[in-house]
Amino acid sequence: MDSAGLNRLYVQEWADTSVSPCRVSVPIEASSESTSVRAFSTDTIQLRGAVRPMCGIIGHIGTRDALKTLLTGLENLEYRGYDSAGIAIQNGAGIAVEKRSGEVDELKASVADSSIDGSVGIGHTRWSTHGPPTDANAHPHTTADVAVVHNGIIENYAELRERLQEHGCRFTSETDTEVIPHLIQQYIDDGYGSERAFRLAIDELEGSYAVAAMIADEKTLYATRKGSPLVVGLEDDACFLASDVPAFLEYTDDVVFLEDGDVVIADKYGVEITDLAGNPVVRQPETVDWDPEQAGKGTYDHFMLKEINEQPTSLAQAIEGRIEPERGTIDLERFGPGTFTDVDSVQLIACGTSYHAALYGAFALRGAGVEATAVLANEYRVAAPPIDERTLVIAVTQSGETADTLRALDCATDEGATTLAVTNVVGSTAARKADEALFIRAGPEIGVAATKTFSSQVALLLVLAQRITADLGAEPVADAHKLLEALDELPAAVESILEGDEAGKIAKRFQQSHAYFFIGRGLGYPVALEGALKFKEITYEHAEGFASGELKHGPLALVSPHTPVFVVLGGQEDEKTLKNAKEAQTRGAPVVAICPPNHQATEVADAHLPIPETHDVLAGLLANVQLQLVAYHAADQLNRPIDKPRNLAKSVTVE
Ligand code: AGP
Repeated sequence: MDSAGLNRLYVQEWADTSVSPCRVSVPIEASSESTSVRAFSTDTIQLRGAVRPMCGIIGHIGTRDALKTLLTGLENLEYRGYDSAGIAIQNGAGIAVEKRSGEVDELKASVADSSIDGSVGIGHTRWSTHGPPTDANAHPHTTADVAVVHNGIIENYAELRERLQEHGCRFTSETDTEVIPHLIQQYIDDGYGSERAFRLAIDELEGSYAVAAMIADEKTLYATRKGSPLVVGLEDDACFLASDVPAFLEYTDDVVFLEDGDVVIADKYGVEITDLAGNPVVRQPETVDWDPEQAGKGTYDHFMLKEINEQPTSLAQAIEGRIEPERGTIDLERFGPGTFTDVDSVQLIACGTSYHAALYGAFALRGAGVEATAVLANEYRVAAPPIDERTLVIAVTQSGETADTLRALDCATDEGATTLAVTNVVGSTAARKADEALFIRAGPEIGVAATKTFSSQVALLLVLAQRITADLGAEPVADAHKLLEALDELPAAVESILEGDEAGKIAKRFQQSHAYFFIGRGLGYPVALEGALKFKEITYEHAEGFASGELKHGPLALVSPHTPVFVVLGGQEDEKTLKNAKEAQTRGAPVVAICPPNHQATEVADAHLPIPETHDVLAGLLANVQLQLVAYHAADQLNRPIDKPRNLAKSVTVE
């Protein structure tokens, strides 16, 4: 044990002549060993995918060829979306930098014949916010001695830039990021050592960031995070920094998930983690039980299709061990009977697809007599219903990093509410911010369009709703036993939908349409919204979701023979929904009914997407799987970049 009470975990002679001999050490608790994290069972780690929209960081120090390793890492981060990419590598007498707008492939081509040769470097995929996607705005950003990559937003960059310019610094980009290398350079020029200069520079930043930096001629990487994820990958003879584990998963599955405020110094003597002031901090290394294959597309053309097809498994994981249909019991980890007896009302906060899952959950709770509302997280600060200490606020967020949702969570905490995160990502900011977290265990979702995580969110919220209603002595969501049985059968029901081929045919049949409408009532309404969101985000076609009863209050004016109307049925008041669909049909719109095969709607509709018979509360979830498939096939037939739709990010960490 060293003087700081820390063990040296990794001790290894490195063979590489450029950085040998050396040791990699990580501060861990004295008696601890690396903990194993099961990726697809009770403690799912979804590899964290949430910086600001789409940026990705990779850093490497070790014995490998940095150029190849960084380019591979950038390719592995491509799923996040980006519009430019770059690398900086310690290259003999200085730092070699190559960066350009466009694809990683273009970056690769530009360095194909280069003589860059080194084993220490940083790389980045950028999604533009400050300045367009030009070569100059791409990261890394550099000064004479410093190279920096950054995810997040430096809120005080304008004043820092002005001050630095007054001191003679010349800026070559429009980015907020460029102030960071200049700040570090300034402190170096003032006589501070590199590490101290890095800490002093970071101390000046306001906003959110994950930063990795390198100083010319030093075989050291400096990194830190605040509000943007950053993980360290550990190998016997190498260390990686990345915004997400897939960046380096083919090399190592031993990771340290950094916390806000952590500073990493990785050099030939080891990896040291401290706070900004330099005090050692204890971070437990974890082994991610997830092989690189699982992060790949396997035999599928797109991650989205793979993830749609994973739903039988992800749903089984969401409910595994949590429900016992035979006994009618629920076991939600820490949320045993009596947990929610102090709750007067429930508010669910979320964005996008997660908001649709939240609407589903709120509807189920209200159906059981519990006061429950779903609120768009980005509206929460201005339009939250009354909150007090008897309010349970549930943040529903796949990534756990959505800025709108995190801010709403802060707001709920400030008002004294009890908070709970329903998320896919262990260790995410939402999971840490909320009083408690419940994980949906969906496994990694790489496609920007959320699919399996919606289903798992809904399934878990329904289970949670049962627990809450039982605690509050309210009427169970539905006959509790029957719902639990139906939940138990849900994976098989989804499987049977996936075996069908109707969705592809429907997508083809209506390929020439002008717009696509989705309607539903009750639990069918959030599914209509979600069906439209999925369709528009990956096909780029006009798609809208409406409460079926609203059609006649305005949207009917848009209906024509060129606007198919998808009708979600199988739930509540179907006869009224069907009447609304007929109103559209009378005006020439083809009607596609999503319902069980023997439903009366099949006699009326122009086309039919079948779902198995199930509990009323689950019909919408099954209908949504058909709508996911329709959206996927429609986008595929249009040859859209399905996994990375234009202008969209997997995780949106700006408000
Ligand atoms: C939907 O396909 C999108 N990925 C988007 O609407 C997403 O659901 C939203 O940004 C919220 O993300 P979160 O679940 O990670 O908070």
